[in-house]
Amino acid sequence: MRTKRDLDNSMAWEPIVKGTRDWAVAPNLTDYDQTRRTFSWDAARGLLDGLPGNHGLNIAHEAVDRHAAGPRREHLAIRWLGKNGEVEDYTYRQLGELTNRFANVLQGLGVTPGDRVYLLAGRIPELYIAALGTLKHRCVVSPLFSAFGPEPIRARLSIGRARVLVTTQSLYERKVKALRTLLPFLEHVLLVGDDHGPTEVPDTKSYRRLMDAASGPYTIQPTNSEDIALLHFTSGTTGTPKGAVHVHGAVVAHHITGKLALDFHDDDVFWCTADPGWITGSSYGIIAPLTNGITSIVDEGDFDAERWYGILQSQKVTVWYSAPTAIRMLMKAGAGMARNYDLRSLRFLSSVGEPLNPEAVVWSQETFGRPFHDNWWQTETGGIMIANFAAMDIRPGSMGRPLPGIDAAIVRATPEGSLEEIHEPDVQGELALRPGWPSMFRAYWGEPERYQKCFAGGFYLTGDLAKKDRDGYFWFVGRKDDVIKTSGHLVGPFEVESALMEHKAVAESGVIGKPDPMAFEIVKAFVVLHQGYEPTDAMKRELLAFARTRLGAVVAPKEIEFVSAVPKTRSGKIMRRLLKARELGLPEGDISTLETS
Ligand code: PRX
Repeated sequence: MRTKRDLDNSMAWEPIVKGTRDWAVAPNLTDYDQTRRTFSWDAARGLLDGLPGNHGLNIAHEAVDRHAAGPRREHLAIRWLGKNGEVEDYTYRQLGELTNRFANVLQGLGVTPGDRVYLLAGRIPELYIAALGTLKHRCVVSPLFSAFGPEPIRARLSIGRARVLVTTQSLYERKVKALRTLLPFLEHVLLVGDDHGPTEVPDTKSYRRLMDAASGPYTIQPTNSEDIALLHFTSGTTGTPKGAVHVHGAVVAHHITGKLALDFHDDDVFWCTADPGWITGSSYGIIAPLTNGITSIVDEGDFDAERWYGILQSQKVTVWYSAPTAIRMLMKAGAGMARNYDLRSLRFLSSVGEPLNPEAVVWSQETFGRPFHDNWWQTETGGIMIANFAAMDIRPGSMGRPLPGIDAAIVRATPEGSLEEIHEPDVQGELALRPGWPSMFRAYWGEPERYQKCFAGGFYLTGDLAKKDRDGYFWFVGRKDDVIKTSGHLVGPFEVESALMEHKAVAESGVIGKPDPMAFEIVKAFVVLHQGYEPTDAMKRELLAFARTRLGAVVAPKEIEFVSAVPKTRSGKIMRRLLKARELGLPEGDISTLETS
């Protein structure tokens, strides 16, 4: 039995050597160096069709229509597993027809290309149909996480000035209805009934009725590969959420990373467990499997170890893409549970979103006979950038090596204030990428300066700290800023602090990510109360509930501690690093700018 070790010690783990293995199915990438040398984005683009008549590149055409019109038209595109045991199958042909209808619905409403269509729903078929139909109509699709509370929803709808929102009746009633007066730009709310049927709710339209009335044929109009396709929100340390803008041309990266990093083969049954409210659930839960013409499993249910093993077994999943928090929860449920299921269909296991601890890689090798392959990317990169490939030896704890076509480096600021690449191995710096890959974000919606700040010295700066070893494997060290990773979700401390401040008892707050063995980090808030309010347990419970109602369970703090002051710099910035150091009992570092009065 291995003992738990720090990520810092992870380079000490035995590599999992796979280079000489006899493959039952040969990986798409067998020789990393050779593929890197010969790779070109133009050749990757050549694997896609483009719109008929040389009319450009549209994600929905590549994902749906080209298969619906070709030999894979009756192939299963999406199998939906409802949380109560329902199963619905959609072939590429059916998906083609339904997404046409949705594009016609938008057309009928007078919604025009470039308008923002937001989606707020659990993992229901209508979400996938609306996302692809929106792309067909060349509108911008912005999926929101359905567990968000009203405040994050309002902020994101406002930033992108949503013209259309597709949501469910119950989510609308619980989270959106009361916001309507704050959202004058939101013209059309399309409601899916909670039983997937028609709805009758004032100031909204029934998704089902509109779909039933819409006509079947739809021709995608010419689409420039630089036309905006997706708006995915992410969080920074300060300020409002950032809307990362992705274009239709990103599909070249989605498609090729599906092949090279997730090793998609024609007969694969792929299960991406992520929700489309986060970018993994869009790039790999919707786009990449469909452009590759394979079968994608969509499970509406939440994590449950028995349910998940049951799905892997009954659906004969071959490629599985999940996240470290879920893997740790499976580990907690025990390897014995996994052995009750026939999981021999599994061929390739992959993980993203937060550090994958080496023991999880080794555990999966022992439990499934297959290791989890960690990979790294961000909302801003749109697709996988660094990966452990199917044919490559795995160094447990490492994120892997850059995709062919991706130049990744470790950089640091020089004393003169410019940027230099660190060439010595195993030296920590900021992970940086050379811009130019197709799924690179093109903007933060409406914030050109914030976007520009991400680039320096010819690099896109990721905000992550990492090291590169002498063989070119990258190792995650931490974040450079104060954003929090909890259960794979990125949370901005400012958004949480602002919500807490709206409670009448709260004078100040500082929010950090507190290390957690299961969720990687949990959101913890330090709160200063106004005079006249007592720091009691009842007050703590009240604030936790207040934050949860406003922000939703994922974003709200799990822990609150009352303090007499929140440390700030002389210019008034909250010193979250110091709060974190105190929380962990670490040296407090340079506190020369700490406000002392
Ligand atoms: O800090 C890195 C962490 O997640 C951040 C990106 O989060 P988000 O934009 O929500 O995208 C998640 C979906 C890809 C990164 O800046 N991260 C992502 N993958 C890994 C990771 N940290 C460690 N190891 C990874 N494999």
